[in-house]
Amino acid sequence: MTTKPSPLGSFPRTRLRRNRRTPWLRALVAEHRLAPSDLIAPLFVIEGKNATEDIASMPGVQRLSLDRTVQAAAEAVRLSIPAVALFPRIDDKLKGDDGTEALNDNNLVCRAVRAIKASQPGLGVICDVALDPYTRHGHDGLLRDGVILNDETIGMLCKQAVVQAQAGCDIIAPSDMMDGRVGAVRDALDRAGFTDVAILSYAAKYASAFYGPFRDAVGSKALLTGDKKTYQMDPANSDEAIREVALDVAEGADMVMVKPGLPYLDIVRRVKETFAVPTFAYQVSGEYAMIVAAAERGWIERERAILESLMAFKRSGADAVLTYFAFEAARLLGRNS
Ligand code: PBG
Repeated sequence: MTTKPSPLGSFPRTRLRRNRRTPWLRALVAEHRLAPSDLIAPLFVIEGKNATEDIASMPGVQRLSLDRTVQAAAEAVRLSIPAVALFPRIDDKLKGDDGTEALNDNNLVCRAVRAIKASQPGLGVICDVALDPYTRHGHDGLLRDGVILNDETIGMLCKQAVVQAQAGCDIIAPSDMMDGRVGAVRDALDRAGFTDVAILSYAAKYASAFYGPFRDAVGSKALLTGDKKTYQMDPANSDEAIREVALDVAEGADMVMVKPGLPYLDIVRRVKETFAVPTFAYQVSGEYAMIVAAAERGWIERERAILESLMAFKRSGADAVLTYFAFEAARLLGRNS
């Protein structure tokens, strides 16, 4: 039996191992590259001075007081990381049924934005729009009789977006998964004069077990009643992610986020290929914890696993990755270049 010659060549004339022979050759033929400019660094913010708090389920990540947050922002700039994403861990006493502290223009996150912008005006600042750090029940929206109210929540999200923009936030990131919030937030920002403040929509955000450590970090885990399955997506769905992104792009999203990251790279690829819009991915807290825990046990090599996982995002088509490894990865990349 004769086999048809393949246009891609065939053995023995073609030997793919030839291009893998040496480091310089592998560098020449590498299809994707990872750089600090691909990374967004999340920062957990707390009250206080010169204070840090460890997060048990995220070894190596700390909550930082404002002055320490400003130092971390300076480090991001030094490492050529383009942007940070802020997550406040507020005092439980300030949490309420409706999360109205989110609308306080002098709340923790707004003060953090001002402090960072005052010292690092060239660093991008991204703020979540969602109520979960502020509600006593830990949900992203208003809760009435066990139901998350969509349209009523949107009114709050619009105000939250405007106070954050007033504080100097560059990118507003609705992560709540209410329907219709991107368009409403866009209109609210425009009406308030913030036509240049961008929207990064968490468009395809799944109801995931991988968010556990984050909920520890912002202090919503113990509070959360029930789950988020009536607003976050079912991990079984992929076409639905395309509809979510289509709506958000039509409503004015400048960039979209897929979340979690590694288990959802198929979604990143589909979104990027379908819409050709800036597509980011979030390597979430549980993904971070898995790599760190396995490395602590000596079961995987930490640094290689970090860089390999981040490269996987690039290969899938992601334009940037929000990752708790941002600082470490940027340092490793600087060392290797
Ligand atoms: C909610 C929000 C979540 C994360 C960031 N913002 C998830 C959730 O509690 O549903 C998770 C991020 C992570 O796990 O790293 N607005």
